[in-house]
Amino acid sequence: AETQYHEFVVQETPVKRLCTTHKIITVNGQYPGPTLEVWDGDTLEIKVTNSARYNVTIHWHGISQRGTPWADGPEYVTQCPIQPGATYTYRFMIENQDGTFWWHGHSRWLRATVFGALIIYPKLGSSYPFPQPKLEIPILLGEWWNQDPMVVLRQAIFTGAAPNISDAYTINGQPGDLYRCSSTDTVKFFVDSGDTILLRIINAALNQQLFFTVANHRLTVVGADGAYMKPFSTTTLMLGPGQTTNVLLTADQTPGRYYIAARAYASAPSVPFDNTTTTAILEYKSTPCNAQLGFPLKPTLPQLPAYNDTATVTAFTTQLKSPSNVEVPTQIDDNLFFTIGLGFVNCNPGPRCQGPNNTRFAASMNNVSLVLPSKASLLQAYYQSIPGVFTTDFPAVPPIKFDYTGNVSRALWQPTFGTKLYKIKFGSRVQIVLQDTAIFATEDHPMHIHGHQFYVVAQGFGNFNPTRDNAKFNLVDPPQRNTIDVPVGGWAVIRFVADNPGVWLMHCHIDTHLTWGLAMAFLVENGEGELQSIQPPPADLPLC
Ligand code: C2O
Repeated sequence: AETQYHEFVVQETPVKRLCTTHKIITVNGQYPGPTLEVWDGDTLEIKVTNSARYNVTIHWHGISQRGTPWADGPEYVTQCPIQPGATYTYRFMIENQDGTFWWHGHSRWLRATVFGALIIYPKLGSSYPFPQPKLEIPILLGEWWNQDPMVVLRQAIFTGAAPNISDAYTINGQPGDLYRCSSTDTVKFFVDSGDTILLRIINAALNQQLFFTVANHRLTVVGADGAYMKPFSTTTLMLGPGQTTNVLLTADQTPGRYYIAARAYASAPSVPFDNTTTTAILEYKSTPCNAQLGFPLKPTLPQLPAYNDTATVTAFTTQLKSPSNVEVPTQIDDNLFFTIGLGFVNCNPGPRCQGPNNTRFAASMNNVSLVLPSKASLLQAYYQSIPGVFTTDFPAVPPIKFDYTGNVSRALWQPTFGTKLYKIKFGSRVQIVLQDTAIFATEDHPMHIHGHQFYVVAQGFGNFNPTRDNAKFNLVDPPQRNTIDVPVGGWAVIRFVADNPGVWLMHCHIDTHLTWGLAMAFLVENGEGELQSIQPPPADLPLC
């Protein structure tokens, strides 16, 4: 095992897409940011220097951070932001994790442009549970705005309306052939006939679930969110923001050019979305250069499901299974039921009140809309016993029961604002039912937990009903994930052992919803001994 040192300079960089140039925030001038490649057991040290105008933090999505919660990254949760001109070094070890991860900004909408792949190879000397691919390709799906996304968000926050949708999706930073002014920059991947390649697909889009496919080629799913999966073959994937999927593709078609494509899965028809399609090109090196040989100059577009094709999503996600039997907690110490959903709060008519019917948006879990502190991070407040920063009364169950996915009464529309944590004893076995609500519109929400991986033991539509649904739990080979896309108008049940002391954010990975407060945090108490305790904060930890 080695220690890898990197420097990330967060800066403003002029970037040209869709015929116009504007400044975006990048790491080291790169968009997407640098790919980090490490081996399980390595230690990473990343010195982040903030040379931009905005506050900065970086999160290492899916990394456990055992003992090092100070390196996790979400602003005001595990650290105060790195202010313009300041630096902070993230230092953490990769411990028994391998697969496709990523890193991203975790301050406001910074991650719209500040993100990159974090690839963890198995420990030296061990190999994949499938034949070694000839080539491995990270594919980062993103969203592009013809404006600084931080400005798009600021406008939305100021007016209380929903932010503008993006102007393009991107594959490794490029929109691709189907957008104006983009064809010469379309990303191409060159392959040899017969080779098997591993695609490491990351949905880094800010706000949109995406379908993904490759024309004429079948994809064998072998992993998701940094966990191996029982291999299965499919043509289409769906990834919620935050999720990753590993697939094997064999170049077994007639030599030529084939589109790799992604576009929206939009489960709530009433919510506006970007309906454009991003493409890259899979090109066989032996593609004849003469178009008259019968190969079209332009690759053909693959079939993508309809935008609201939830049946295809369900067919895909329910095939994800751990490769062998796993140890799922069978006894539960903390049995939690969290509603997730969008809603409104009333406001006085005026420029800050541009939501529907004199409201502005607020999203919540168990009717609490998270307000981040400002004078200290939650972790620091806990570690140093600073009073008045948070309370530990986040409700274990919804304050009122209602027909969550039915006709929801207006009286339930107004969430309360708060900085409430749910306290868990070290080693506690936790079950959470995540229940979508119809307060504004039912929608699928990609729910992510920091510092923990969890098993998805069941999912379904409508209201979760224990007497009917407990029987459906898969306690044998459920998939392990760090982000679960809770079905639209439905529910998912997850289980994990809270064996990582710290303060850990749980939130919807759609940044619009996160901004509106669709988040809560767990406070996992120390266990016994140093290895089960939060280590002291690094000397350069940014303070508020
Ligand atoms: Cu990738 Cu808090 O998230």
